[in-house]
Amino acid sequence: MNFREKYPALQNYTYLNTAACGLLSTKTQRVIQQATQQYAQQGSVGRDAWFDELSAIRQAGAEFIGVSASEVALINNFTSGIYQIAQLLQHHRRVLVVADDYPSLLLPWHLLGFEVFTVAALADGRIPLEAIEDNIRRHNIEVLAVSHVQYSSGFRLPLAALSAIRKEHDIKLVVDATQSLGVIPINLRETPVDVLIGSGYKWLTAGLGNGLLYICQSLHAELSPKVLGFGTVGSKVSFQEVNRMPFTPDTLEAGHCNFFSLFALKQALSEIREIGIEAIFEKVIQLRHQLQESLPDKIKLISDYEDENSSSIVVVDAPAEAEGQLKAQNIITSTRPRGLRISPHFYNSEQDIQQLYSALADLR
Ligand SMILES: Cc1ncc(COP(=O)(O)O)c(C=O)c1O
Repeated sequence: MNFREKYPALQNYTYLNTAACGLLSTKTQRVIQQATQQYAQQGSVGRDAWFDELSAIRQAGAEFIGVSASEVALINNFTSGIYQIAQLLQHHRRVLVVADDYPSLLLPWHLLGFEVFTVAALADGRIPLEAIEDNIRRHNIEVLAVSHVQYSSGFRLPLAALSAIRKEHDIKLVVDATQSLGVIPINLRETPVDVLIGSGYKWLTAGLGNGLLYICQSLHAELSPKVLGFGTVGSKVSFQEVNRMPFTPDTLEAGHCNFFSLFALKQALSEIREIGIEAIFEKVIQLRHQLQESLPDKIKLISDYEDENSSSIVVVDAPAEAEGQLKAQNIITSTRPRGLRISPHFYNSEQDIQQLYSALADLR
């Protein structure tokens, strides 16, 4: 497949930065353009049809992670989703997080007055499952909130292991899948969690301002809506009437959404499904191995993990100026707290890794 034609940014850059921002395909860009053009030309005329389309987008998202559409809400980004979840879970008190996880996953629990306990990652970024379990036991944890893949190290906590911990300790498991959704296969029928949230603009290649939020069916009965709006209550206007509404995830979509961005999500999901998530995963594993094996001697691999703990994020101990020096050669990466982050996706090639390798070898 000629990805350079489909993803125009590849004509400008050796793009190894999907962990920061995934690329938009020409087709997805066109979907956004067509919808904005229709809006400009027709105003409210097409709006009802757009609302009708939302259930198809939920359905596509649900199928992608092996759940039912009634368990999925469409969101603007991860942060808005996790705040909604933290509010919904306020009848629980004790939360366990990983100390240097993504800030948006850490902050809501503090802000909303939970008792927050932390488990530290080791110096190389590993997060031992035993440490998680030990903390759960010692602090009588009720909610475990973790990233599937850590943004700064690329360390992956296998969902099967997290799911087993959830069952063993009878806790609520909240997973941030922003750094895995679209690149690592996720099937929640096989590895149940309570909540999973992913922004669409990275590995899902869905552009900005969209995401998926999953809440498992068995949790719905213990939740009550924290946000009520027209999107939730429709034509019911008396508070007494709406206050007794049962919770369903789509009640989180309380106001008008950014349809353009959600149409992009649907298109991107269908493009990813067309290539196949298993094929995508295999390709990034190959690229990761190539990258790890070809690192110049002077560059140390930090994310040196077993396959089951690896992702499509590779972190190396390069000099602080590396990101800028690579960018000057149109090679795009990111510096993060643990080092230089290199994050190839299915649209990258072996040549991209070779170019990076030569540029790294030449670094001063
Ligand atoms: C683990 C993780 N979660 C979430 C996000 C993004 O959150 P949001 O979509 O709210 O900007 C990022 C972005 O880097 C991330 O790495």
